[in-house]
Amino acid sequence: MEENLSQETLCVHAGGELAGDAQSVVTPVFPASSYKYRQTTENTYPRYFNTINQKVIIEKLCALEGGQDGLIFSSGMAAISTTLFSLLQPGDHVVFCKGLYGGTYHLISSEFEKRGIRYSFAPDNTSEAFLQVITSQTKVIYIETPSNPLLEVLDIQAISLLAKKHQIVTVIDNTFASPINQNPISFGFDIVIHSGTKYLGGHSDLCFGAVVTSAALTKQIYEGAINYGGSLNALDCYLIERSLKTLAIRMEKHNENALMLANFLQGLPEVQRVYFPGLRSHPGHEIAKSQMRGFGGMLSFELATNDLKQVDIFLDSLQFIQPAMSLGGVESLICSPATTSHVKLSPQEREEAGIKDGLLRLSVGIENAQDLIKDLKKAFINLSTSVHV
Ligand SMILES: Cc1ncc(COP(=O)(O)O)c(C=O)c1O
Repeated sequence: MEENLSQETLCVHAGGELAGDAQSVVTPVFPASSYKYRQTTENTYPRYFNTINQKVIIEKLCALEGGQDGLIFSSGMAAISTTLFSLLQPGDHVVFCKGLYGGTYHLISSEFEKRGIRYSFAPDNTSEAFLQVITSQTKVIYIETPSNPLLEVLDIQAISLLAKKHQIVTVIDNTFASPINQNPISFGFDIVIHSGTKYLGGHSDLCFGAVVTSAALTKQIYEGAINYGGSLNALDCYLIERSLKTLAIRMEKHNENALMLANFLQGLPEVQRVYFPGLRSHPGHEIAKSQMRGFGGMLSFELATNDLKQVDIFLDSLQFIQPAMSLGGVESLICSPATTSHVKLSPQEREEAGIKDGLLRLSVGIENAQDLIKDLKKAFINLSTSVHV
């Protein structure tokens, strides 16, 4: 591919040339799990992560993230666990940011100790805080920005400079931003991970993960990947390739709609606080502006009430914005972290994590923004009338 092509063009064309001689403008699906070996030097096999349908997606994601190589996995968690376990040995230490995605937190809290891997959380999300907990055994720094569900923004470049000084590999979960809004490799990060189940797939019907990095680190992660076996089938790969072609235009609409909804919500008496990095009032706004092209489609807001019954009334009053888990699809989804992702924490732990009962996380879809605002307005009216009866 030519250099300096726009993200929109890369979404459509990157990787396409691997389709071969078929002369079709879309990649044919190769469902084979067995490949002839006499005429080739490479042994092709789905669990070796080297079928054409797998390679096409990786090529597209490398073009979008600015990486040299990578791997496509059967879930975001397969990408995360394979990456971490391929990089780490017993005795190694990892520093994680605060406010990690719950599944990643569960992975490290249940699997690291028995493998002799130690870890710390940075006390806050500044690079100085990361420096405080680095030890001579620290091999990996792992972050998420913007974070889930409070949309905290971490300074990618500052953390990568710190890590380079101490020869630590940096890993970022870039799921919330997507490659259209944020390219951590260009700020010095080594490894970018996505739960493709979210924006990359974008239609709430696929589950996959991706790693994009250098050729050398891909080789290292690959050694683990063929053993752990979290590869993906050709039909899902085909659907992912199809989804990625519209990623740039979908993200543009997610970005635009979320900014409109955040501005609408921030002016309301029924809303205590809005968390969205695109708002000037957001503490990470300046850093977000310096490292993101768009602020993404995720926002959270606190209702003025922390009464869970009132929260349910609000959720049940919505027509298009559906109370559902997951995020990043074309349809708007909303969830209450206190009763879903963070339900297993005690009220005190939730309070310490900044998760109030009235907090709602909204994955803003690509519907018409005014229709979404109307939907929210109706729910706010229902909420205020329910308070007065
Ligand atoms: C930020 C983030 N990272 C990773 C994951 C895990 O991805 P998957 O569910 O595809 O395994 C999720 C899932 O919700 C997520 O939100």
